Amino acid sequence: MISASAPAKVIVLGEHFVVHGARALAASIDRYITVTASLSARDELFAYGRLVRAEHIFNSIDRMVRGRHVKLVVRSQIPNGAGLGSSAALSLASAIAVSKLFNIAPDPSLLFEVSMEAEKHVHGNPSGVDVAASLYGGFVLFKRGELVRVNAPPIRLLVVDSKQRRKTGNLVNRVKKFMDQEPELFNSLVVSADLMAKEGAAAISEGNLEQLASFMNVSQSFLELIGVSTPKIEAIIRGLKGKVLGAKITGAGGGGCIIAIPMPGIVPKTGYTVNAGVAGAYQLNYGNPISGHLNL
Ligand code: PMV
Repeated sequence: MISASAPAKVIVLGEHFVVHGARALAASIDRYITVTASLSARDELFAYGRLVRAEHIFNSIDRMVRGRHVKLVVRSQIPNGAGLGSSAALSLASAIAVSKLFNIAPDPSLLFEVSMEAEKHVHGNPSGVDVAASLYGGFVLFKRGELVRVNAPPIRLLVVDSKQRRKTGNLVNRVKKFMDQEPELFNSLVVSADLMAKEGAAAISEGNLEQLASFMNVSQSFLELIGVSTPKIEAIIRGLKGKVLGAKITGAGGGGCIIAIPMPGIVPKTGYTVNAGVAGAYQLNYGNPISGHLNL
């Protein structure tokens, strides 16, 4: 039996706009999915002790297993449908566990491609930011097909779960409708979101959390404008006023989680804190440092 883990992620700046070509700033966080893989007579995946349908996972790892069958057992610290990248972490941890089981060279671009196949099945048109953040880890400035690592120490983030569950694909389609109705406006938001992600990356590496937080607040108003916020999310953000420097949806929206940067010395009563910018799945499982600019 072989185990592998992959971390959850947060999108600090740029969700949705990244689908349309902007850069996004994302980070892996210290919440994990662990998959244990073993040879079996049939393909089966167990989560929380129950057999779960997961054809998309088995289809994605097909080129690694080559006709053999595996049993996957999943343990997760990541809520589903909450914007923390649980589906990407599951695909990635499965791909890594299977590559270890069959002694396949742990090439990060192969792991990225295999996990993206499963993500396409779940989301339709994923940008790849979830898989990239979970695989490479730390802070990453991501745009389709390209990733730049951001050199910054981990930061403490507050995560508040709205407990509203939703499907990423539906929200991505909603944004597409907004884009079709308001192409010029949408395009200007894509350009601004791209610049904010870049400047946000610079702010994180300089330790300028005030600057980062003000970009997060602007980003939240962009997400409200394109229709992926909810009254509950906005009520949670209002409730955090005076305790956080900045707060926004993370991930697709329509519910899911909010991330916030707590004011120094203040511990908000709601939510939980995570370390953002921890090691990604590749380092966790293979220990290889990945550095520099990467073409995916
Ligand atoms: O909510 P999540 O974790 O599925 O976030 C998806 C991020 C989006 O930008 C909305 C979609 C994508 O593929 O980038």
